[in-house]
Amino acid sequence: MKSIPVSGPLFSGNEIKYVTDCITTSWVSTGKYITKFEKKFARFCNSSYALTTSSGTSSLHLTLLALGIKPGDEVMIPDLTYVSTANAIKYVGATPVFVEVDKDIWSIDPEELEKKITKRTKAIIVVHLYGHPADMDRINSIAKEHKLVVIEDVCQAHGAEYKTKKVGSLSKAGCFSFSGAKIITTGEGGMITSDDNNLIEVCTAMRRNFASKNNNFFHTDIGYNYRLTNIQAALGLAQLERINSLIRVKIRNAMLYDSILKDVVSVQLPTEKSWAKNIYWLYSIVLKKPGLRDKLVEYLSTKGIETRRFFVPMHKLPVYKQKVRFPVTEFLSENGLSLPSGLALTSTDIEFVSSHVKKFLKKHA
Ligand SMILES: Cc1ncc(COP(=O)(O)O)c(C=O)c1O
Repeated sequence: MKSIPVSGPLFSGNEIKYVTDCITTSWVSTGKYITKFEKKFARFCNSSYALTTSSGTSSLHLTLLALGIKPGDEVMIPDLTYVSTANAIKYVGATPVFVEVDKDIWSIDPEELEKKITKRTKAIIVVHLYGHPADMDRINSIAKEHKLVVIEDVCQAHGAEYKTKKVGSLSKAGCFSFSGAKIITTGEGGMITSDDNNLIEVCTAMRRNFASKNNNFFHTDIGYNYRLTNIQAALGLAQLERINSLIRVKIRNAMLYDSILKDVVSVQLPTEKSWAKNIYWLYSIVLKKPGLRDKLVEYLSTKGIETRRFFVPMHKLPVYKQKVRFPVTEFLSENGLSLPSGLALTSTDIEFVSSHVKKFLKKHA
């Protein structure tokens, strides 16, 4: 039986050429591809600077450190996100404060956010979930009023736009991931984008153990090894050269899913607000009738169709357990799933997946 993965990369450009160049020249660790990747990524996001890191998690960690977030501080995040968003706050000793999400776009709800601001709140990490941007103007204006810094977690939304501006350029810093399932991948890897030269300089120093510039093993503070390798950057650069066409593939696939599933009343499809460009990183749906999602996941897996459940809310994880109720987040988490969205997906695959989703829902109407 053919298996249809939930995600997956497409290496059809200069990947082999650039990676081979690293190996044949022995520039595997540091090298020219890192700077090339950073410069091109900054241009792509319309940011002044871009800095490679070892992961999305380390990007978030470095950014919080550079902004001086420390024990006693509170950082707001959506309750529905990948655990790294919360963990990075813990790494710096601060407290993540979970906030309810918006029912349509699934990112932090600005009204709920405002209600949770305290004297200790220092920052907000906005997550552009599954490829749709958060409502940045509203969030930025709340942040301005309360003197909070905004960081974007862009791990799932490379190339998405808010009022024609690229995400990652709409706040103090954007934190990206290039792990295997992302629109472009370096295996594991990350990037920080910012217009703040000082933030990038501090992150650069921390990223290589605060080594002094001439690298004579004089370290001015305790840092980290959070660097991306030249081989990884070579892979990233080759994909970045084609990112616009990769995004077009994601959008085209989403439009095909939409056209087949639009009549299914028992399902909430991904949306695109009038001010947004959704890049549909994972085409994600929510079943309106509770209790069916896991059965659908099982049914689809018998047909070779891989899916991914939505995240478990942060407040339900053992390390972050809290007695709070976030009805929207909880409903999405229990009833949401991502359908196959890999870059190598064919129209026939999408028709096959959609027909089985429809068949299952008709039977369970
Ligand atoms: C929303 C979000 N934040 C952070 C991360 C962490 O990125 P990484 O796995 O590269 O550390 C991910 C990874 O999938 C993510 O989806």
